[in-house]
Amino acid sequence: PDLADLVVVANRLPVDRGDDGEWKRSPGGLVTALEPMMRRADGAWVGWPGKPDLDVEPFEFDGTHLVPITLTEEDVELYYEGFSNDTIWPLYHDVIAAPRYRRQWWDAYVRVNRRFAEAAAAVAADGATVWVQDYQLQLVPMMLRELRPDLTIGYFHHIPFPAYGLYSQLPWRRQVLEGLLGADVIGFQRVADAGNFARAVRRQLRYDTKASGITVPQPDGTTRTALAKAFPISIDAESYAALARDPKVQARAREIREGLGNPRKILLGVDRLDYTKGIRHRLKAFGELLEDGRIEASDVTLVQVASPSRERVEAYAQLRDEIELTVGRINGTYDTTGHTVIRYLHHGYPREEMVALFLAADVMLVTALRDGMNLVAKEYVASRIDNRGALVLSEFAGAADELGSALLINPHDIVGMKDTILRAIDMPGAEQGRRMRALRRRVFEHDVDAWSRSFLAALEQARGRTESAA
Ligand code: G6P
Repeated sequence: PDLADLVVVANRLPVDRGDDGEWKRSPGGLVTALEPMMRRADGAWVGWPGKPDLDVEPFEFDGTHLVPITLTEEDVELYYEGFSNDTIWPLYHDVIAAPRYRRQWWDAYVRVNRRFAEAAAAVAADGATVWVQDYQLQLVPMMLRELRPDLTIGYFHHIPFPAYGLYSQLPWRRQVLEGLLGADVIGFQRVADAGNFARAVRRQLRYDTKASGITVPQPDGTTRTALAKAFPISIDAESYAALARDPKVQARAREIREGLGNPRKILLGVDRLDYTKGIRHRLKAFGELLEDGRIEASDVTLVQVASPSRERVEAYAQLRDEIELTVGRINGTYDTTGHTVIRYLHHGYPREEMVALFLAADVMLVTALRDGMNLVAKEYVASRIDNRGALVLSEFAGAADELGSALLINPHDIVGMKDTILRAIDMPGAEQGRRMRALRRRVFEHDVDAWSRSFLAALEQARGRTESAA
């Protein structure tokens, strides 16, 4: 059988199965992030095909060996919707929604993490590098190390890691830290996330933590070193710019503007429909600006793309109801037969359409209450080949650490957010250009290729350390 020298383990495979049974590359951020590296390395990818009870044999797709993990209906409910998205997700996003702690969910999480670890152990060549992704699989690094001590193991955490005061709520806080510490390198989005993790390890496990590494005691009485460090993720910036240069995409952007009745200004929000994204706060600010008469309804349209997500988790279903109620109220008040103030779209779109939307939008609103990175902010910047447009960006998104030339906001401060949205709407062309050029410089210099290279380089160094110790 084909054994791989580089194995990615993620909750999802990089493909979705359409209703016609055909596999298509999925549009998600993580897939886009790892795609270039996988093509180069001829690697294997272990993941869930995204639907319950789908039992498929490993297969080749676009030069990558895909190893599907079957999740039963019950696994999906307890491990994915339950522990991953109703316990860890809200807890790690500063309890914006209340996390629920269920022992049955935890048991399923352990069980399913073991299946991922076993599948990765089976496909990895001798001495291979395995790169585990994200919060659904925090136990995999240690499980994998126990199965295959010869492997070099990396883990990247795409979402925030919370302050210890919150983290310590988790009934299984010790096991999760130990699970993560099975990796040689544990990557985080922000320096603050890596710091929160190191603090949790110190407080909970009493291990020695230094910038050079965390000392992890081994069952045989020796120690090994695990490195916890920030590696802010990025996008394939050039591919967004290339789409933005495409005359078909530019024509589509004009068509979008016309379809909205050529308003003076178009505002845009693009999010998974998730309570971490601050969509309600954004609508509140926008609605009040209309109510105060500080923006004229006939002058603007807010396009809000809210792609369906985790719809069977109660907090998500509730959020959808609230947002749709609010959109309906605002539109009911300010729309005319010829013009709508909020164009709400509960769909996901292909990348070409997203870039056309980015080109059509004068103001991009990223108002997350907490976000690991927020790649949409970077996608908007990469698409603005004309150096135009204004980005309003929450300081609670990881992207704010890099994109200081955006208009930074605190989305809890509705008064401040309203002033900043107005400032973005009225921003002079020269200022747009100055800010956008600085943003673009950062996004193009630090693209996803730089990200994966720097992470893998840190892993190689870790391998060097281990081999010289042995
Ligand atoms: C976030 C997470 C990813 C996840 C994605 C989509 O970006 O960090 O791990 O894949 O959301 O969520 P879903 O639950 O649909 O995979």
